Amino acid sequence: MKEKLEFPQGFLWGSAISAHQTEGNNTNSDWWAWEYSANRIAELKQKGKDPSDFQSGIACDFWNRYEQDFDLLQQLNQNAFRLSLEWAKIEPKEGEFNQEAVYHYRQMLGSLKRRRIKSFVTLNHFTLPKWFADKGGFTKRRNVYFFVRYAEKVARDLGYLVDFWITFNEPELYSTLPYLTALWPPQMRSFFTARKVAKNLITAHKTATPVIKKITGKPVSIAYHLSDLEPASFWSGFTTAMIHYWTNEYILNRTIEFCDFIGVNYYFHHHVGLFGLRHHSQHGHDETDLGWGIHPEGLERVLLFLRKYKKPIYITENGIADEGDTKREKFIEDHLRGIYLAISQGTDVRGYLYWSLIDNFEWQEGFTPCFGLIEIDYKTQARKIRPSARAYAEICKNNAIEIV
Ligand code: FCB
Repeated sequence: MKEKLEFPQGFLWGSAISAHQTEGNNTNSDWWAWEYSANRIAELKQKGKDPSDFQSGIACDFWNRYEQDFDLLQQLNQNAFRLSLEWAKIEPKEGEFNQEAVYHYRQMLGSLKRRRIKSFVTLNHFTLPKWFADKGGFTKRRNVYFFVRYAEKVARDLGYLVDFWITFNEPELYSTLPYLTALWPPQMRSFFTARKVAKNLITAHKTATPVIKKITGKPVSIAYHLSDLEPASFWSGFTTAMIHYWTNEYILNRTIEFCDFIGVNYYFHHHVGLFGLRHHSQHGHDETDLGWGIHPEGLERVLLFLRKYKKPIYITENGIADEGDTKREKFIEDHLRGIYLAISQGTDVRGYLYWSLIDNFEWQEGFTPCFGLIEIDYKTQARKIRPSARAYAEICKNNAIEIV
């Protein structure tokens, strides 16, 4: 028997990317400096890895090929797209704005507008201009000023082309991976610095938002990294509540008043043990190529938790690393079912953006993970639509999932 789950009228269907992961040649950024640094190269060689797999280089050459990718986006019936602007390209040196780069983004966003594709535009998706990172980046409160100046500049120059603004991508991760767990540049291990960065990102969002809104009149939010946490045993309830507070609520509760909608990036469900040990999944559970457990019901729970904030919700990221494309179709369907169930319980979800439109540079994991609806051959830059993308295109067209 066929089951048809219809989504609300006007629901947005699309996918997402970020600048550093796709555009290529982000030469003035902190990530570029790190990827090509002697330390990083030595560390990778020591692990027996090829450093060039971990250097973004020209990535997907999206900078030059965006028209082609937007053609594919349209072919796949998507009506929304999330991308980020690269601050390091727009302001490669302190106080010097590169009008050519701004013009390039104007062309890119103009192309989406002509195609009637709604744009979600992120101002900061993890990477920083090198000059800003050298000043201490978001570890210093006084540096918030530079972010707000950049936000004002792009709001003025590009605002008329943007439908939804996102100031920061996953501030929860951006404060911890570079400053607490030392996985990302500048590879620090300091609880206090991580906390300071979180606070400064909150201040930066709260300061930039009224400026962007005043200039553009468009909705502003954050793409929050929200995970579903479950106690592994009766004894770990308290630890779970603590971790939930620090990872899901700390930044959200302090910024929600300054958000017109809630952007949700959902990837993880964790089982929390007594001492906070987190496992992506229980033993034997289905996993992605990166070993992340697949838990669509966790997305439903996250959405139900967000109901209390009474704001419209857009899923700004959700996706799977699946090179063989054997799990993606079901992954998308199951997560959409979770969203559908949350909507039927009164949650105001208005759109879904799959991560990602194309395979891309996955941060410290390099080019190996394949999240794309579209496969990329990095030698030729050829694009190939994966079968799951066609299944998703049907859903986008019908505004419904049909499950046999
Ligand atoms: C998210 C990031 C995005 C991508 C996906 C897989 O946390 O926002 O850039 O790396 O994970």
